[in-house]
Amino acid sequence: MSQHANIAPHGGELINRIASASQKAELLSLAESLPRVTLDERACSDLVMIAIGAFSPLTGFMTQSDYQPVTDTMRMANGLPWSIPITLSVTSAVAEPLTVGSLVRLDDPTGRFIGVLELSEKYSYDKKHEAAKVYLTEDAKHPGVKVVYDQGEVNLAGPIWLLEREAHPLFPTYQLDPVVSQKMFQDKGWKTIVGFQTRNPIHRAHEYIQKCAMETVDGLFLHPLVGATKEDDIPADVRMRCYEIILEHYYPLDRVILGINPAAMRYAGPREAIFHALIRKNYGCTHFIVGRDHAGVGDYYGTYDAQYIFDEFAEGELGIVPMKFEHAFYCTVTKSMATTKTSPSTPEQRVHLSGTKVRDLLRQGELPPPEFSRPEVAAELISAMKNS
Ligand code: ADX
Repeated sequence: MSQHANIAPHGGELINRIASASQKAELLSLAESLPRVTLDERACSDLVMIAIGAFSPLTGFMTQSDYQPVTDTMRMANGLPWSIPITLSVTSAVAEPLTVGSLVRLDDPTGRFIGVLELSEKYSYDKKHEAAKVYLTEDAKHPGVKVVYDQGEVNLAGPIWLLEREAHPLFPTYQLDPVVSQKMFQDKGWKTIVGFQTRNPIHRAHEYIQKCAMETVDGLFLHPLVGATKEDDIPADVRMRCYEIILEHYYPLDRVILGINPAAMRYAGPREAIFHALIRKNYGCTHFIVGRDHAGVGDYYGTYDAQYIFDEFAEGELGIVPMKFEHAFYCTVTKSMATTKTSPSTPEQRVHLSGTKVRDLLRQGELPPPEFSRPEVAAELISAMKNS
């Protein structure tokens, strides 16, 4: 697959681990003879993210020589920044019969053969240590930490192959893998592209920070995460409809591309902000928006911790520029969206609603106010709530 000259993926090369037709045929012929491991939803999406190059330079699940420094110091063994361990964690019972050096068949949760692992290593790891370092808490109530505590105690490592890149069942037209998004940016002649991560329905603070960013770059890559999220997050199909609606009414369509990010959410706050930025770099973005409590959950992280963490890397080292935004709200004094940087308001003169508050309103059949949400989006959310 071709790469585009003006965009450098993380590590320099866009990884492609999608099996060729002949590789696939060969692997299918081995299907019944290989030992099997069943992946959960997150591991399935990690497999895809690696295969399509979204996790470049990773070519597989991390060996201990990468896992340990990534966990401890946000760097791979070769010194390249990387902030989240990408591991295939299984129980000892599953790991025990597998032989290092052999091929392992990877099945999705329904038992479908979707990829292979060239098993190079099995190693145990310290879950509490991973939780404390990556999630900055050992609290099992944290949704990302809970996943770590619930998963198996042995990591299987090695390069992977994805058998086939399938169309997304819900959003096939928005499945823009890095090789595609990079080409789209190039075809549009965009030199600077800002990526936007989100796991929530779009609201006016999102719109405000995106548009502030759009004032200084060539294009916006609106890139909602559609992989696994926690149960009370709004489902991806509802969120996608909201993005479609808001784009139609409120955005210059020639300056925005909407695509899905198939990654699973970790809720790791600051560490995940770095991870999210590196993923968008691989999709071809030059800039990345980091607002208030990016990828946070509950009260685990300070409002701007996900911005401060970028200072731990030397300038240019990440290869993507964070665009940092203060907490945005509707200012009733100036009658516009603003932050404390631009608004003369007192806290009582600001309209801001938490995600929890919005969900409560919707559950009671009440529309969030127009200062918080565009009415067309609010109507879509209400109708989705009624039908759920
Ligand atoms: S996230 O978990 O994907 O970060 P969310 O969809 O809420 O959650 O946020 C998407 C991006 O918008 C993040 O960069 C976040 O920091 C930013 N953001 C959300 N709400 C606000 C706000 N009121 N003010 C400034 N930034 C915000």
